[in-house]
Amino acid sequence: KSIVILISGRGSNMEAIVRARIPGARIAAVISNRPAAGGLAFAQAHGIATAVVDHTAHAERTDFDAALAACIDTHAPDLVVLAGFMRLLTPAFVQRYEGRLLNIHPSLLPAFPGLHTHRQAIETGVRVHGATVHFVTAALDCGPIVIQAAVPVLPDDDEATLAARVLAQEHRIYPQAVRWFVDGRLAIDDRGRVRVRGVR
Ligand code: GRF
Repeated sequence: KSIVILISGRGSNMEAIVRARIPGARIAAVISNRPAAGGLAFAQAHGIATAVVDHTAHAERTDFDAALAACIDTHAPDLVVLAGFMRLLTPAFVQRYEGRLLNIHPSLLPAFPGLHTHRQAIETGVRVHGATVHFVTAALDCGPIVIQAAVPVLPDDDEATLAARVLAQEHRIYPQAVRWFVDGRLAIDDRGRVRVRGVR
């Protein structure tokens, strides 16, 4: 299965997926919307094709999404992985990759969609926080949940300590979700929930 990974910054989740060396998976390209994304260097150093589709060069979101889709489609991927990709995508884009577009969100969805999830968790006083890998649908941070990991929120946590604890789990669950997809084990049931074949 061929995979295109979209990043905007550091790319540590992309790195975790690359390092997992998932049998049957080939990382065809890493594409960033920001030329300065730190993750591009890692991808290049690992012999992975990289590209930049700079959102600032496109006045309209639809133009950017069309350029991004054109770039993705040159690699004809079976799966598109959003890994810290910080742009909202148009419904047309999401529809084009329906069923083969994954995202990771740093909260236990449906809690805390949007930005600053760790701050939201601390301010709300939740004792348990985490991360979610989900299929992307048109609504923001929504869509069938593939896997989640929970971490405790400790009394002395600040955004940075909590983010680091969650990130360690992201690096574990994202490669797992991709492995399941590549192995053809993910199905969506008639109520829109993900079933992982072979996992109860
Ligand atoms: C991750 O916490 C991801 O869940 C969030 O942004 C962060 C990206 O980190 N959306 P990285 O670029 O994968 O290192």
